[in-house]
Amino acid sequence: MSKRDRTLVCALLLCGLFILSLAAYADKGEQIENSCVHCHFQLPGSSFVGAESHSWTGSIHQRNGVTCDKCHSGNPQAAEEKEAHQGVLPSGNPQSTVYFKSIPSTCGKCHGAQFYKFTQSVHYQMLESTGKGPECVTCHGSMVTSVLRPDNVAALCERCHNERMGIFPYIPQKAKAVLLLLRESKALLDADTKLYHPAEETAKARLIRNARSSLYSATLDWHKFDLDRITGNLEEMYNSLETLASEAPNQ
Ligand code: HEC
Ligand code: HEC
Ligand code: HEC
Ligand code: HEC
Ligand code: HEC
Repeated sequence: MSKRDRTLVCALLLCGLFILSLAAYADKGEQIENSCVHCHFQLPGSSFVGAESHSWTGSIHQRNGVTCDKCHSGNPQAAEEKEAHQGVLPSGNPQSTVYFKSIPSTCGKCHGAQFYKFTQSVHYQMLESTGKGPECVTCHGSMVTSVLRPDNVAALCERCHNERMGIFPYIPQKAKAVLLLLRESKALLDADTKLYHPAEETAKARLIRNARSSLYSATLDWHKFDLDRITGNLEEMYNSLETLASEAPNQ
């Protein structure tokens, strides 16, 4: 190996080591950066608090860096428990950011559109007045934050909308049908936008834009739970797409 080669090898090795140490640094940085995550991950899963904490792992929020303090408040820079917990209150405390009546506005800090529509719903009115309406966590889970699908939405609505409680027992089956229609409409629009490529500012481009905007309204209206309005919007979307198809075999 010539001297020059050796220098090159050394330079490469150094480079590699530097990158490795950077990675280690970033790893450490992350741990110190959020003391909530760091400490709570060490709590045993056998305890209530430990199990709740671990349920955040793997969630879409974890993957997007939405840490504990974003919903629970507190000081994620403090390493010591008491200091970190400043402002963190159990969910049963009406002052807590995760008290059931406060959950919508806590989630609404980031999910503004869903929150806004939700405040227009009968559910929100019921939540505010009698406390009997569902809130975000009723349907999405607190930390696992799942999104309901047509095949499991009915069972959730049925918790309150059933014969025994007598509040609109027809709703679960209707919700299932509407959510299925919403999902299928999304797929249909996706397929159609792949099929048609009209030039901008033409009548056909306008039809696609209208269809997209009807679908957007329908999706937003889901959180107002006005099921008839959602189907109305989807009908408008279908009308736009039908006109498009009848006018244009290609282009
Ligand atoms: C050094 C360890 C440590 C740190 C740092 C820490 N926690 Fe905790 N936390 C605990 C332990 C232990 C418990 C359970 C015992 C208890 O109730 O105090 C707990 C309990 C909780 C609870 C349940 C409260 C209740 O009373 O039901 C929440 C919520 C919580 N922590 C959130 C946070 C948040 C948010 C942060 C960061 C801002 C944080 N924790 C930082 C150790 C920690
Ligand atoms: C997206 C918001 C969100 C994030 C992020 C989040 N939580 Fe929660 N957490 C909640 C909500 C809302 C509740 C109340 C659940 C309920 O009412 O069923 C809760 C409940 C809890 C509880 C049960 C005690 C109580 O007060 O009800 C613990 C413990 C807890 N969270 C710890 C954590 C820890 C630790 C993290 C981070 C690793 C975390 N949470 C991340 C929203 C969140
Ligand atoms: C600090 C901001 C923040 C807060 C607070 C927050 N979220 Fe999120 N949430 C996000 C981000 C970022 C994503 C991932 C990107 C996206 O899909 O919007 C996400 C994703 C989601 C998803 C999945 C969306 C999908 O398309 O799969 C749901 C459901 C959700 N959040 C519900 C909640 C609920 C319920 C709360 C309150 C308990 C909450 N979020 C609080 C930022 C936040
Ligand atoms: C009664 C049940 C229910 C309640 C209450 C509820 N959601 Fe949803 N949410 C759903 C369902 C079902 C979907 C899936 C809709 C779809 O597939 O288009 C959804 C979808 C979402 C999504 C994914 C993006 C989207 O709009 O499709 C986010 C984010 C979200 N909800 C946040 C929230 C927040 C924040 C609250 C409280 C202010 C809330 N949800 C209240 C049932 C609910
Ligand atoms: C935690 C209980 C609870 C759950 C879960 C729940 N609801 Fe409701 N819902 C209510 C209450 C309470 C009312 C108001 C009943 C009244 O007006 O007396 C209501 C009213 C409604 C209405 C208004 C009906 C009207 O014409 O005024 C619709 C639509 C609705 N819910 C849809 C749903 C759907 C869809 C789901 C499931 C995704 C769901 N709800 C889950 C409690 C719930």
